[in-house]
Amino acid sequence: MTPLTVRSTRTADLPEEVRAEVIRVCIDAHQVEDFKNLFSFLPPDGLHFLGYLDDELVSHAVVTTRWLQQENLPLMKTGYIDAVATARAHQGKGYGSAVMRSLASNIPDYDIACLETSDASGFYARLGWELWRGALAGRSEDGLIPTPDQQGIMILRLPRTPELNLDSLLTVEVQGRIW
Ligand SMILES: CC(C)(COP(=O)(O)OP(=O)(O)OC[C@H]1O[C@@H](n2cnc3c(N)ncnc32)[C@H](O)[C@@H]1OP(=O)(O)O)[C@@H](O)C(=O)NCCC(=O)NCCS
Repeated sequence: MTPLTVRSTRTADLPEEVRAEVIRVCIDAHQVEDFKNLFSFLPPDGLHFLGYLDDELVSHAVVTTRWLQQENLPLMKTGYIDAVATARAHQGKGYGSAVMRSLASNIPDYDIACLETSDASGFYARLGWELWRGALAGRSEDGLIPTPDQQGIMILRLPRTPELNLDSLLTVEVQGRIW
């Protein structure tokens, strides 16, 4: 079996044809056409983890910087993960796990990692991710925006992660989205 090779590349350095491949893999995995707009939401310093079998892109995840805060503790520089996807024909072969493990080992300048998942928490839990159990909210200029209905916010402790209380309030700065 061809081993998976995981490469990492900044969004700004991704050639057009690789962007198209990333979009193809995300749409195929999620069956959500909106992924065609993925690159309009990503900053130039997004960091993509690309899983290749020879020259074929089969698995992907991207990290961007956000700022989580636990209660009133200092802001945590957060690697926020999006567009986790393995092409359907290649699922269940360990490629998504390999991409996520590579990602976790290669973001040393972050205090913590975070993602939102509607139904794949079991996949991430096996890789060491933990569901946040406490209240969640967005931080805006006008104050906190509670997100009581939000499910599936998971964090991964990194070497720099401070002590956490998963039952406490967790907030994130509001962008176009909250979580
Ligand atoms: C989730 C996903 C990225 C996993 O990628 P993958 O390459 O198939 O993952 P791996 O082969 O490393 O691991 C597969 C294992 O995760 C499990 N898994 C896959 N999706 C899961 C889910 N939604 N919930 C729980 N476990 C899941 C599989 O059952 C499998 O377990 P097994 O090895 O015991 O059979 C891929 O299935 C995918 O792209 N799914 C559709 C899009 C998606 O849900 N993305 C994540 C949303 S945030």
